[in-house]
Amino acid sequence: MHKDSVVVTPLADTPFGCSIQLPTYCNNDPAYLNDEDFKILKDAVFTHLVAIVPDQAELAPKSQYILTKRFDPAIPEAKEGAGANYGHGKEFRHDQSVLKKDGCSVKDQPQVQILGQGKFAADEPGNENGEDISLTHPSHTTFHHDPLTEEQIKEGKQTRFYRWHIDSALYDLSPPMVTTLLGIKVPPATQYQTIKYEDDGSELKLTQGATCFVSGAQAFQNLSEEDKDFVLNTTVEYAPHPYIFISPARATPDGLTMVSEGKERSLDDLPEWEESKVKKLPMVWTNPVTKQHHFQTHGCCLFKLHTKNKDGKITTLGLKEAREKVHKLMRPAIAPKNVLAHSWKQGDLVLFFNRGVWHSVTGEFKGQGKEGQDERRLMHQCNIASTLDPVTVA
Ligand SMILES: [Fe+2]
Repeated sequence: MHKDSVVVTPLADTPFGCSIQLPTYCNNDPAYLNDEDFKILKDAVFTHLVAIVPDQAELAPKSQYILTKRFDPAIPEAKEGAGANYGHGKEFRHDQSVLKKDGCSVKDQPQVQILGQGKFAADEPGNENGEDISLTHPSHTTFHHDPLTEEQIKEGKQTRFYRWHIDSALYDLSPPMVTTLLGIKVPPATQYQTIKYEDDGSELKLTQGATCFVSGAQAFQNLSEEDKDFVLNTTVEYAPHPYIFISPARATPDGLTMVSEGKERSLDDLPEWEESKVKKLPMVWTNPVTKQHHFQTHGCCLFKLHTKNKDGKITTLGLKEAREKVHKLMRPAIAPKNVLAHSWKQGDLVLFFNRGVWHSVTGEFKGQGKEGQDERRLMHQCNIASTLDPVTVA
């Protein structure tokens, strides 16, 4: 007899990723997996890096939270003012943050964020904010230095990688282990858009609003021996309140880093910050399950690079040089053949190993509906700041 347990199937024709079939006993709610099945799921997420559970449109925010938190059991249970913080903490809502427009919280489960595009009435499925909400899908047009023209977007059906990133506040809080992203209301994946890589002319065709992932392990493996040595010996210092620091600056056309033209806010013009809370993270994070090295750097939020030389001395690169260096190291990893572009189906629950992939929003939704109206989309996202920073294990 077939055993009633989690079934993991690698995705076909993609560089990584898997789909998950839940056992019948959990009644389509992954929060009810027994310990043995949860371990299968956890190993699948850490090994395949992205795991898709279909048919989850009804998943309750509480279940999504329980499931997400289970990947990082050291996180204490949420109490008033302590434990189980959303990965960005309160910074997410800061007026000056580049993340401010990106969503609102589920009223009774503040670690779950509501993201998407369009207006949703208080009683619509997935709107658990308690009132009417208006969501804005992040468009590269507000974040890139030289965005596509309206014609390239409307007639040419082009889009961009909005921002390649790891989900993390990168100040005070530690990067979450796993992020879960649930597509509750998703337009049918019938419209295609194209990303044109401006430096080498290559192209990636994807469905509108696809979420893109690349593997940090592949990014590491594809480096030259010399570059591997560099990343293994380098610590990335992130700016204090990095999303506020970069808010006046704009990104490169591939969404990998920022254009350096001195527009960042000065450090004494930021909300209060403490040196002890500034994040200094290794460039390489070792996967606790596969033991592989993942090249994990947030190219938009970095501030400095500190590299330990063979003689033990430290070389530091400042903002501009650090961005240039990181861009050079990161760019090959986002070549079209390396990208898993997840085309959303309503009800998809995507779990990804946030400490092992880089991901990016894509897609233009404004005026892209059949009669030129804005497409509507609603998603629930959850990640929880970890208790420890990631490390390189030799
Ligand atoms: Fe994200």
